[in-house]
Order: sequence, then C-alpha cells, then structure tokens
Amino acid sequence: MFDTLELICMIWWYMMLFHSLHADIHCMGPEAQESPITNVKMDWSKMELSWESSKNFSKYKCTIRNRDMEGTPPEVNSTKCRFPLELYMPLHEGVFLIIEVPNTNISKHCTFSPGGINGSAIENFSCVIYNVSLMNCTWQAGRDAPEDTQYFLYWQNSRYDDAMECELYITDENGRNTGCRFQNVRIDVNKAYFLVNGSSKDSLIQFYDEYIRLYKIEILTPPLNVTANCTTDSVGCIITWQPPLTSHVENVKCFQYEIHIQTKDEPKEEEKDPPVRVRSNRYEFQNYNEKKKYILKMRARGRSCLISSNWGEWTEPIEFGQGKDYFIFVVLFLIALGTISVTLLQYCLFKRYCSFKSIFPPIPQPRDKFNISTDENSQTEYASPQNKQLYPGSNCG
Ligand SMILES: *[C@@H]1O[C@H](CO)[C@@H](O)[C@H](O)[C@H]1NC(C)=O
Ligand SMILES: *[C@@H]1O[C@H](CO)[C@@H](O)[C@H](O)[C@H]1NC(C)=O
Ligand SMILES: *[C@@H]1O[C@H](CO)[C@@H](O)[C@H](O)[C@H]1NC(C)=O
Ligand SMILES: *[C@@H]1O[C@H](CO)[C@@H](O)[C@H](O)[C@H]1NC(C)=O
Ligand SMILES: *[C@@H]1O[C@H](CO)[C@@H](O)[C@H](O)[C@H]1NC(C)=O
Ligand SMILES: *[C@@H]1O[C@H](CO)[C@@H](O)[C@H](O)[C@H]1NC(C)=O
Ligand SMILES: *[C@@H]1O[C@H](CO)[C@@H](O)[C@H](O)[C@H]1NC(C)=O
Ligand SMILES: *[C@@H]1O[C@H](CO)[C@@H](O)[C@H](O)[C@H]1NC(C)=O
Ligand SMILES: *[C@@H]1O[C@H](CO)[C@@H](O)[C@H](O)[C@H]1NC(C)=O
Ligand SMILES: *[C@@H]1O[C@H](CO)[C@@H](O)[C@H](O)[C@H]1NC(C)=O
Repeated sequence: MFDTLELICMIWWYMMLFHSLHADIHCMGPEAQESPITNVKMDWSKMELSWESSKNFSKYKCTIRNRDMEGTPPEVNSTKCRFPLELYMPLHEGVFLIIEVPNTNISKHCTFSPGGINGSAIENFSCVIYNVSLMNCTWQAGRDAPEDTQYFLYWQNSRYDDAMECELYITDENGRNTGCRFQNVRIDVNKAYFLVNGSSKDSLIQFYDEYIRLYKIEILTPPLNVTANCTTDSVGCIITWQPPLTSHVENVKCFQYEIHIQTKDEPKEEEKDPPVRVRSNRYEFQNYNEKKKYILKMRARGRSCLISSNWGEWTEPIEFGQGKDYFIFVVLFLIALGTISVTLLQYCLFKRYCSFKSIFPPIPQPRDKFNISTDENSQTEYASPQNKQLYPGSNCG
C-alpha cells in the first residue's frame, strides 16, 4: 500500500518535473504528403511516445535523437512506443522524434524545442561531491537573461527518487541563485537528473537540464591512517594506509594510490623520484637513508568499481625518518656542551668555595669590635668581600 502510494508520488513528481517544461512538440510529415500519423504526444515521465493513425499499419519504428545520442527501440505493432529510461537524454537542446512505417515512405518528424528567450538559460553548470556526502552545484546566469531573472534548481538522485528543489541556494550579491549546496548525498548507480529553470517578470526563461553519474564527480578524501614504519633491522620503511572514505564502495581493491616521497629540505629531489603508483594498501620504501628525513603525501583514485578515476585530495604531509646524522651531531654537541658546563661549574664552585674560605673567616669578629662606631667603614668592609665573590662568578658565565 505504502509502496504504491510512493510510486504514485514519484510518478506525479516526475511528471511535475517534466510537464512544467516550457516546450512544444512541432511535427511535420514528408513534403507534399498528408501523413496518416497525427496527434503525436510524448510522456516524458515514462519516455512514451504515442500517436494516432488513419490507416492500420502492422508495424511502426520510433527514433529519439538529440545532438549527441540516439535511441531506436524494437519495432512495435501498436501506436505507442517506449524509449529506455536509461537513455538519460537531456532535453534543453531540443529533441527529435521520428515515427516511421517500415517499407513505406510514410513517416512523421517532430521536434521538441524548449521555449523561452535564447541565451536566458544558465551556463557552465557543474557539480562536485566532496567530503563523502556533500555536493556543490554552480552555474552562471545566461548572458541574455533579463536582470530580474531568478533561477531554481530541481533534482532527482535517480529516476526512482523524488524530485526535490534545492534547499540551500548559493546566491550572488544581487540575490540571484548561482548554485546549490547539498548534504547527505547518496551516490547511486543511476544517473542523477538536474534541472535549472528560471523566471522573470516579463520573459520566458529557458531551462537547462543534465544527467550526471554522481560517482564521477566525486573528489575522493585522502587515504586514511597513513603510517610509515622505519625499523632499524630492515633496510626500508613500510608505509601502510586505509582507503579513503566513500559513501557507496567498501571494496579495498577499488583504489589506486599515488605516493609522493621527498627528502626534507631538498625539494628538488622530487624531479628524480617520480611518484609511485600502487594498488595495494602497503608500500615498501627501499631508498630509505637513515641519515635523512622524508616528507610523504599520498592520494587515491578509483580503478574499476564505480569510483571517480580522478585523483582525490592529498593527505597532509607526513614526516618520517630519523635524520640520524643530524641527531648524532646534536647529541655530541649536547654532550660537549654538558661537559664544558659541568667543568666550568665545578671550577666556579671551587673558586667560590676557596674565596669564602680565604676571605670570610678573618672578616667579621675582630674588626666589628673596633669599627662598630662608623657606618661608612663597616659598609666598605662588607662590600669588598662580596665583590670578590661576585667576580669569579661572572667570569664563569
Ligand atoms: C521549474 O520547474 C519546476 C519543476 O518542474 C516547477 O515546479 C516550477 O514551477 C518551474 N518554475 C518555473 C519558473 O518555470
Ligand atoms: C483498424 O483495424 C481495427 C481492427 O483491427 C478496426 O477496428 C479499425 O476500423 C481499422 N481502422 C482503419 C482506419 O482501417
Ligand atoms: C503485437 O505484438 C505483441 C508482442 O509484441 C503481440 O503479443 C501482439 O499479438 C501483436 N499484435 C498484433 C495485432 O499483431
Ligand atoms: C510515397 O510513395 C507513394 C507510393 O507508395 C508515392 O505515391 C508518393 O509520391 C511517395 N511520396 C514521397 C514524398 O516520396
Ligand atoms: C534561438 O536559437 C535557435 C537556434 O540556436 C533558433 O533556431 C531560434 O530561432 C532562436 N529563437 C529566437 C527567439 O531567437
Ligand atoms: C562559461 O565558461 C566559459 C569558459 O570558462 C566562459 O568563457 C563563459 O563566459 C562562461 N559563461 C558565462 C555566462 O559566464
Ligand atoms: C567533513 O564532514 C564532517 C562531518 O560530516 C566534518 O566533521 C568535517 O569537518 C568535514 N571536513 C571537511 C574538510 O570539510
Ligand atoms: C562548496 O560551497 C561552499 C560554499 O559556497 C564553499 O565554501 C566550498 O568551498 C565549496 N566546496 C567545493 C569543493 O567546491
Ligand atoms: C584509523 O586509526 C584509528 C586509530 O588507530 C582507528 O580508530 C580507525 O578505525 C582507523 N580508521 C580506519 C578507516 O581504519
Ligand atoms: C613496525 O614494524 C615492526 C616490525 O617490522 C613491528 O614490530 C612494529 O610493531 C611496527 N610498528 C608500528 C608502529 O607499526
């Protein structure tokens, strides 16, 4: 029951999407001939062409064609034929429909052409999927579109989904819609249908439509959990990772990876070492030199499976390797520094200790008794040993 309702809704929506297209079918028979074929109709939601005929013919042949593609289903014996839904033929450039009676010269040629002023339809429509399930579509207003033209995007994830209007438009400074942002986009094997129509106060705006295989426009996220394990016992480093996240493919074997390793602080090296491409989830870096540090980055693309064959995003640069030469140098330097410091400290302490010993004992008791009367004298007396303590200290520093 629910399914039937859904189906009805779907068909209704689909009809909405196509029925409101401003377009007419104009038909012509061959010249100087009254065609027996009349009343041609096209139901875009079912891709069904129907007509009436004043004569009973046993067979008809139908053809649908636009600039880029053509469909000819098997001949039919009734006045109705269906084109495959999988044709995915956009309509905005117009469509030719031909009905022929085989083995005669009887035929009917019809054109479906979008209405509206030329140059008012959007241009440069393109969509991109990123971060697994987010999608951006953008376009530019037609160059001959009136100033007040506003555009609206409708889409259908697949033929079997509801048609929906964009929920979050991207607008330009004049408030005109120039794109749409989508969330939770599911990548389906079927093509998604996009339709952008427009309205203006006093003109009819042409629509634009396009079918897109969503997986082809995905920018893959970087590979995950990339680690480089350089052990002292083995010559190389083992680099491992996990495939990028996608909404529709789990298979590890669907990806190819490009690995880019470059010596740190020697960026020129990259010209010598071309990027490596592998299909596995593991790569052994043989040219590893313990004395150096390396910068690793990698990206993925689809190989077979329904995954974009364009390279995805790079990982953040990952640093690995020990750079041992440098390390040893630092260690030696620190040891040397430590030794020098300790020696100097000992020297100072020794000196200080000696100074105390030699200067302090004779100072206070005997002189106090004699010099207690004059403040000035006592101060100078106290000042001199202090100074003597200080000087060796500052020499140490
Ligand atoms: C655009 O198309 C949608 C879906 O077909 C329709 O509901 C809407 O009325 C159309 N808008 C204009 C301005 O033609
Ligand atoms: C076509 O054939 C049907 C029966 O098959 C008949 O009823 C009809 O009158 C015929 N029409 C013409 C125009 O011959
Ligand atoms: C038309 O073709 C269908 C199958 O394609 C067949 O079942 C039907 O009997 C045919 N009708 C006539 C009148 O030949
Ligand atoms: C179609 O063929 C008929 C005879 O079968 C002929 O009389 C007619 O002139 C032809 N029409 C065209 C346009 O060739
Ligand atoms: C629009 O352009 C088409 C071909 O590009 C042309 O056939 C048609 O006449 C033009 N319509 C108008 C109103 O200029
Ligand atoms: C569409 O893109 C092309 C190429 O980038 C550009 O030349 C053209 O001006 C764009 N169309 C509009 C309406 O901006
Ligand atoms: C990707 O989406 C997730 C949530 O779905 C969000 O947490 C993360 O920040 C997004 N990453 C980028 C680069 O936009
Ligand atoms: C998608 O659109 C948003 C908002 O305009 C923008 O911030 C983001 O960079 C776009 N992402 C891509 C991949 O184009
Ligand atoms: C990446 O590593 C973290 C922690 O090591 C783990 O929780 C996560 O599941 C890993 N991701 C994948 C895709 O395996
Ligand atoms: C690195 O590889 C060695 C063996 O080659 C293994 O014992 C060690 O656990 C690995 N370390 C990490 C972090 O994977």
